[in-house]
Amino acid sequence: MVAARCASLVLMLLLSCCGAASAAADEKLTHLHFYFHEVVAGAPNATVVKVASLHKGAPTFGDVNVFDNVLREGPDPASRLIGRVQGLGVNASLDGSSIFSAFDFVFSSDYGEYSGSTLTAQGQFDPTGGPSERSIVGGTGKLRFARGYMKSRLVSSTNTTIVVVVDMYFTLAH
Ligand SMILES: *[C@@H]1O[C@H](CO)[C@@H](O)[C@H](O)[C@H]1NC(C)=O
Ligand SMILES: *[C@@H]1O[C@H](CO)[C@@H](O)[C@H](O)[C@H]1NC(C)=O
Ligand SMILES: *[C@@H]1O[C@H](CO)[C@@H](O)[C@H](O)[C@H]1NC(C)=O
Repeated sequence: MVAARCASLVLMLLLSCCGAASAAADEKLTHLHFYFHEVVAGAPNATVVKVASLHKGAPTFGDVNVFDNVLREGPDPASRLIGRVQGLGVNASLDGSSIFSAFDFVFSSDYGEYSGSTLTAQGQFDPTGGPSERSIVGGTGKLRFARGYMKSRLVSSTNTTIVVVVDMYFTLAH
């Protein structure tokens, strides 16, 4: 009786194990590689605006910035436009070591199979431009059920612009 129960338990474990393994094998990891180009707050045609600051002039805990940056294929500002990244950044760390961000990546109408689809990512990033990792929490259109992670890091800056390289890795399991 006990042995039979154990045997069926083992069978159940085997079934759940192997069902999960074949589902995992179907989850193809997609990688998108592109750059976002930002014109900093205060510069002509800025793509970022500071909407809340508790202490005028000084960057501080609680500051909120909203941005609408362009996504391009390469680091060159003349490279192909593939979409926009719209969202907000909040200085949510008391020691200033990270910024919380929530992003919507909106792909242009000519971005192949992902035209008009979006990916949503959120998490912290290093305000000095060092390597950062955020979670991809979802998507729309062809990118529905997206989950994965996003890596980014500053590649260049001038006094009015910054260029950030972005790598998105995700599956579309559901
Ligand atoms: C700002 O945008 C306007 C309209 O697109 C453009 O004519 C102007 O050259 C831009 N200025 C800079 C500094 O990019
Ligand atoms: C965030 O706030 C902290 C605390 O006021 C400050 O030290 C830091 O410079 C701010 N960082 C940014 C990027 O605004
Ligand atoms: C940025 O640098 C250029 C020269 O490279 C200068 O003409 C311009 O005034 C600077 N802008 C700001 C906002 O400091």
